[in-house]
Amino acid sequence: MNRSFYLQLVNPWHPAMEIPDPSQLAAPHPDYPDILMESRAAQALKSLLARLDAFDRIVPVSGFRSHQQQQKIWDDSMKENGYLFTRQYVAIPGCSEHETGLAIDLAANAPDIDFIRPDFPYTGIYGQFRALAPSYGFILRYPAGKESITRISEEPWHFRYVGVPYASIITNRGLVLEEYADSNERSVS
Ligand code: DAL
Ligand code: ZN
Repeated sequence: MNRSFYLQLVNPWHPAMEIPDPSQLAAPHPDYPDILMESRAAQALKSLLARLDAFDRIVPVSGFRSHQQQQKIWDDSMKENGYLFTRQYVAIPGCSEHETGLAIDLAANAPDIDFIRPDFPYTGIYGQFRALAPSYGFILRYPAGKESITRISEEPWHFRYVGVPYASIITNRGLVLEEYADSNERSVS
């Protein structure tokens, strides 16, 4: 996969165009072999969890989703939670980062984990994870305060692999991917 694959912008105006095939997917957490990511993203997450010795405390909830799976999550949430909730927390099918294999939802290990809004705190080991994430290529994709740009509510659990050094550049500048993509476009035109 090349640099543009990892930096691709996926949102309602930019559908997921590059979908990895199954041979390009891997499991970032050995205890959750069915939760997959694009292989480089999976390796980066695995390395970060190993560095923190956090496999027992930080668990993956949702990684790669096919278009059909994203559609089912959308449909189920519309039935259970209604449109206002669903559009805040579920990307339009065809326009989810999960369809690229570059997104992962993480949770603090607990008996009951909410699938759509898992609990991933800001303190303790979770705070340590957040501090190290950019140096492993991950950004917090939907931070508070940027909802008018991302069109998604704050999601403390959703991390997006963009690669090194881009994750640190984006995080240090306080940008979301839409803003970074926009600034890059302006600098080359
Ligand atoms: N929860 C994020 C927005 C997604 O469904 O891709
Ligand atoms: Zn997610």
